[in-house]
Amino acid sequence: MGFDSLDSTNAALRRIVETEGDVAEGLMIWAKTQTAGRGRLGRIWKSPEGNVYASILVQAPEDQATAPQVGFVAAVAVVDTILELPRHNAPPPPLSHKWPNDVLAGGGKVCGILPEMTSSLEGAAWIVVGIGINLRSVEVQDEAYPIGSLASHNIDTTPEHVLTVLCRAFSARLIDWRQNGFASVRESWLEKAPSVGFEMSVGLPSGPVRGNFAGLDTDGALLVDSPLGRKRILAGDVLFSGGDT
Ligand code: BTN
Repeated sequence: MGFDSLDSTNAALRRIVETEGDVAEGLMIWAKTQTAGRGRLGRIWKSPEGNVYASILVQAPEDQATAPQVGFVAAVAVVDTILELPRHNAPPPPLSHKWPNDVLAGGGKVCGILPEMTSSLEGAAWIVVGIGINLRSVEVQDEAYPIGSLASHNIDTTPEHVLTVLCRAFSARLIDWRQNGFASVRESWLEKAPSVGFEMSVGLPSGPVRGNFAGLDTDGALLVDSPLGRKRILAGDVLFSGGDT
């Protein structure tokens, strides 16, 4: 379902799931602009026309502990998607992942992902996976690091085309994750992750954690070597803190 403008595609898809029932995996809502786009940790996601703002419905896994892995599935699917977009003989953009689910191109954030848990009228658990991809407009969303756009990497495309490629890529990655587990998603994510030892700061609801990147655990937890020792940080903070507040 496409809209000219919505408050937030995540909020809109949650309303459908929570009030209408009879929903199915893969239901996608997208909008040309959002008036109240939301990002991680209660941040605002500025949403001018020209970029991708979409939310896709995914059935929550029975084992709730694996639910945060869906954000990583989406992040690697976004990388698959970007690499499939036409780029006029230019080399592929230098893509990287930033924990938990951001995608950067040449160090600038080109995609943010906001997975939120919700449940239907019948009590079934769903994950609303919100995906924002900067195609052209570069807006300051978050002062922690620079913002990028695909246009600045010679990718000239439309939200409609990106969404077609993304739906296929996300579906393929979800099927693989369900059949074979987290290993290949983790491997793809690590291929484009910072090198071990890289100095990093991770924003959490409790405040930033600073240290050196020490890898991604087999369940998707970030490993950080901090002055107080090795920390295991789960992406669940994002998943379970979403809401209309
Ligand atoms: C982040 O902070 O990095 C996550 C940003 C997620 C933005 C997307 S845009 C589509 C969907 N609807 C929203 O309100 N947010 C997500």
